[in-house]
Amino acid sequence: MANGGGLTTELYKGRTTSYVILACIVAACGGLTIGYEIGISGGMTFMPAFLEKFNFHSRDDDSPFYYCQNEDKRLIIFTSSLYLVGIAASLLASHVTKIYGRRLSILCGGLCSLVGAVLSGAAQNLAMLILGRIMHGIGLGFGNQAVPLYLAEMAPAKIRGALIIMFQLAITIGILCANLINYGSLWGWRLSLGLAGVPAILMTMGGFFLPETPNSLIERGRYEEARRLLTKIRGTEEVDAEYEDIKEASELAVTNPFKAIFQRKNRPQLVMATMIPFFQQFTGINAIMFYALVLFKKLGFGTDASLYSAVITGAVNVMATLVAITFVDKCGRRALFLEAGVQMFFTQMAIGLIFAIITPLSKSFAVIVVIMICIYVSSFAWSWGPLGWLIEIFTLETRSVGQGINVAVNFLFTFVIAQAFLAMLCHMTYGIFFFFAAWVLVMSLFVYFFLPETKSIPIEEMTSVWRRHWYWKRFVPDEDPPALPSYK
Ligand code: BGC
Repeated sequence: MANGGGLTTELYKGRTTSYVILACIVAACGGLTIGYEIGISGGMTFMPAFLEKFNFHSRDDDSPFYYCQNEDKRLIIFTSSLYLVGIAASLLASHVTKIYGRRLSILCGGLCSLVGAVLSGAAQNLAMLILGRIMHGIGLGFGNQAVPLYLAEMAPAKIRGALIIMFQLAITIGILCANLINYGSLWGWRLSLGLAGVPAILMTMGGFFLPETPNSLIERGRYEEARRLLTKIRGTEEVDAEYEDIKEASELAVTNPFKAIFQRKNRPQLVMATMIPFFQQFTGINAIMFYALVLFKKLGFGTDASLYSAVITGAVNVMATLVAITFVDKCGRRALFLEAGVQMFFTQMAIGLIFAIITPLSKSFAVIVVIMICIYVSSFAWSWGPLGWLIEIFTLETRSVGQGINVAVNFLFTFVIAQAFLAMLCHMTYGIFFFFAAWVLVMSLFVYFFLPETKSIPIEEMTSVWRRHWYWKRFVPDEDPPALPSYK
């Protein structure tokens, strides 16, 4: 290792250049596409003209049982089908990203989403609408796989957390824009679906104009280009230490990354690539993001007030993500995860208890529930939301495939929750909040015991973190024992 096995960035020279910040902002725009999708799909199911056009049955608000709502199954499939396509696309993207570079995947993501938006916005029949969803799903798979990876590799280690979280910030801005557009729903469903083309165009432009990452150039043998780029993005000629670390990491890379991630020495990465997105979805966040309108209507608000509440939660989501950007490189990742775990647990328990004891809710209790939801959303937004994309835990060898698996698992469980939530609400009633609270407890314990702190560690030095961890060290061969204390 160029820095002799030390775990800090001190031997890396250079500064945070405006070039790198700009490249990261452009790349992060990829998050707008998925955010817009998350936010818009819930609202579509309330648009009478849309429901009529495709012969969907509208929601049955007069269901005899307070918690139950009969919903057209095809409508649920409309909301969640693109996640199934996204699973396959993200795994495919992990190959493209590794072999042809990060930019090409970002470009594919942008173009496919653009085609998807045009097809859905212009849909004349159900087939065209579904084809649009499929194209959009492919775009989301590519974008979510490549963009966080791009940010992690471009960022200087000192502010890597903040730059990766720009992706989540873009997601939350996308959700908020979609909520506002739903609130104004007003311009009709074609525009709501078609506007997804705007972030897709930004992403496509990013794919054309962004530089490749130095790590990807080195991985593909373009050494001189990589050195020149490092000099430019770090604003110094003294890039030897970082260059050598990336080169060393690329020499370890194997031909079949799918095989590599299943090797014993990569067990921690495999476990994190599956458990983090699984847990992220089992915080229950998408019950709120997709079904906020249904929930707020159940609370007794009219359609307008419900949309308004959805806009409020969307705004809280954006603001709290800014908190994550501010603190992630100061306090570290674990502190955010653990603090938020406590906050999410107590708010979900409180919401469950209010629903259990007081039904139907009076207006003032309904307002208390909305406040609790905002507190819950804010804690998600500075923990599992952004940190679910913290792909710095992977080595160069496993990064592309690791992120592919991460996105695939994320989409799989987004799909599961989107499909199951209304049925769960009907059968478990207020118990659903205790259900998610229990998962929050489990995931917080998981973080406490199994997730090491990765703040300020150079990205190509991550193996050292696993090697020092009390549990994971048994999986990772000890090549270069460091003199630092062990990490939790
Ligand atoms: C999650 C989405 C979620 C969003 C909310 C993302 O990190 O992957 O499922 O809807 O955060 O902000």
